[in-house]
Amino acid sequence: MSSVKPYYSNKTKKEEVADMFDNISPKYDFLNHFLSLGIDISWRKKAVKMVLDSGAQNVLDVATGTADLAIMMAKKGCKKVTGSDISEGMLAIGREKVTREGLDGVVTLQSGDGENLPFPDNTFDAITVSFGIRNFENVAKGLQEMNRVLKKDGTLFVLEFSNPKKFPGKQFYQLHFKFILPFWGRIFSKDTRAYTYLPESVKAFPDGQAFLDLMTQNGFRTAKQRTLSLGVASIYSAKK
Ligand SMILES: C[S@@+](CC[C@H](N)C(=O)[O-])C[C@H]1O[C@@H](n2cnc3c(N)ncnc32)[C@H](O)[C@@H]1O
Repeated sequence: MSSVKPYYSNKTKKEEVADMFDNISPKYDFLNHFLSLGIDISWRKKAVKMVLDSGAQNVLDVATGTADLAIMMAKKGCKKVTGSDISEGMLAIGREKVTREGLDGVVTLQSGDGENLPFPDNTFDAITVSFGIRNFENVAKGLQEMNRVLKKDGTLFVLEFSNPKKFPGKQFYQLHFKFILPFWGRIFSKDTRAYTYLPESVKAFPDGQAFLDLMTQNGFRTAKQRTLSLGVASIYSAKK
């Protein structure tokens, strides 16, 4: 799982991932919405609704990036949202957006590794990770850390790409992720690897039952998968 790296330099996967997101951070939001044809926004909305329906008020958004999900949760009524990430470039863009939205009192962004979270045990009502966990060096360690900082009965929500297995999701996915996305990604982000690393990392990441099992093996219970858009993405949820 961790063998897929952005650049295959002598740095660790974590260092390469942080470098890659620092590189693409100025173009990240534009590319996200452009390359997903805006569908990522509807996926995020569904994840946010699930968080609010769980009754969570104090939420941690791990691998928050430019804080889209954190901001959306705050706008929809979460009282306190903390976002953490290893890319200072992504966090800097996120902080500008938080201030622009007038949410400085609600959303706090800080540097923090999802595999070694800088928070005490039993702190948060819910934790979200959107399109982040696939980039972790050690996914099991990340899940254990999220379990540690969640309150008892708190819920983890993971929004992540999955590999659709059936027609027409499979064919759409292959065309889009293998050809269209790397082409436009390279042109706009100027990072030749970022958008070829993306489909490679999705392919290498355990999806469906394999990810549900991983959650259960690392301290969670009642793990569930909700597939989105013909299985191109999924929202996994599980309780501590
Ligand atoms: C594809 S972006 C997703 C950002 C945001 N969650 C979103 O939905 O747009 C992946 C993010 O994961 C972060 N990341 C990767 N590994 C991480 C780790 N071990 N701890 C914290 N953040 C990490 C990257 O820096 C990057 O900002």
